[in-house]
Amino acid sequence: MIRFTFRVSLFLLFFLLLSPSRSFSVSPRPVVYPNRSKQLSWRPRAFIYEGFLTDEECDHLISIAKSELKRSAVADNLSGKSKLSTVRTSSGMFISKGKDPIIVGIEDKIAAWTFLPKENGEDIQVLRYEHGQKYDPHYDYFSDKVNIARGGHRIATVLMYLSDVAKGGETVFPRAEKSQHRGERAEDDDLSECGRQGIAVKPRRGDALLFFSLHPDATTDENSLHAGCPVIEGEKWSATKWIHVDSFDKTVGSQGNCTDENESCQRWAALGECTRNPEYMVGTAELPGYCRRSCNVC
Ligand SMILES: *[C@@H]1O[C@H](CO)[C@@H](O)[C@H](O)[C@H]1NC(C)=O
Ligand SMILES: *[C@@H]1O[C@H](CO)[C@@H](O)[C@H](O)[C@H]1NC(C)=O
Ligand SMILES: *[C@@H]1O[C@H](CO)[C@@H](O)[C@H](O)[C@H]1NC(C)=O
Ligand SMILES: *[C@@H]1O[C@H](CO)[C@@H](O)[C@H](O)[C@H]1NC(C)=O
Repeated sequence: MIRFTFRVSLFLLFFLLLSPSRSFSVSPRPVVYPNRSKQLSWRPRAFIYEGFLTDEECDHLISIAKSELKRSAVADNLSGKSKLSTVRTSSGMFISKGKDPIIVGIEDKIAAWTFLPKENGEDIQVLRYEHGQKYDPHYDYFSDKVNIARGGHRIATVLMYLSDVAKGGETVFPRAEKSQHRGERAEDDDLSECGRQGIAVKPRRGDALLFFSLHPDATTDENSLHAGCPVIEGEKWSATKWIHVDSFDKTVGSQGNCTDENESCQRWAALGECTRNPEYMVGTAELPGYCRRSCNVC
């Protein structure tokens, strides 16, 4: 489950003062080099790919997230629904699939690296962690019916680091089995207290982490428990692609008309509420949610 308790007001204020600069150029056809992907652990199956994203791709993801945040902050203000900002207390933004050629290129690379089709992926989520912010240990798979109605279980996650972090902010797998992994990643000295609680990946701009939440036999892998350690110094930007066992684009069997029941549905969907608050947004076959259209489930 995605549960954030992020403090965001300063964050928003910060972005309101920035005007997003959008320098736009099309990347060449993406190429994946399997020899850059290194195994981190077998339990869970986790791999690191150094230099997965170019500087341009990292900057592009960050700049889209910044401009979306700015837009939504303004929309909130216009509607006067300040209450909403607690719902969205923002963790981050989702970038719709295939939004532009650079995003397409990133999604192509992810599919090529993971051997998992693009349509099985959710929209990329970009997150910013400020000092002290963290993501407590959690699984990326769900166990409730609502969340697996669309695309089935999450099988894998690709976590891309968009910034270097001076201290802290590691991704740590506290239950990973330490094989004779060569410890060629960060030296322990480099790791925060939290990062030493398991196998840790120190965020490095452009690197990507791939791990599987399901065993090869499709049962859930409890060793895939992971956390985002508190950022001690600097800030951390990351982009996540969750990948399901089945198409995430395919519409779930719908009944009745495909409509949104609230004028804010589109905006909520863009803010990630379909995933964060599926009971309300998506609902079930018996009890349809309020934003089925915007959540692409009909
Ligand atoms: C990885 O493979 C590419 C393409 O075959 C090659 O150009 C590159 O030198 C290789 N890199 C390493 C570190 O082996
Ligand atoms: C938000 O609304 C208030 C009151 O209408 C206004 O004074 C303020 O300038 C607005 N802020 C932004 C960022 O638009
Ligand atoms: C769907 O929309 C049509 C036309 O607007 C309407 O006649 C029909 O009653 C609606 N059906 C449901 C289940 O809402
Ligand atoms: C839409 O949702 C808001 C916030 O929950 C609520 O105040 C409003 O009444 C809803 N509008 C409709 C048409 O249901």
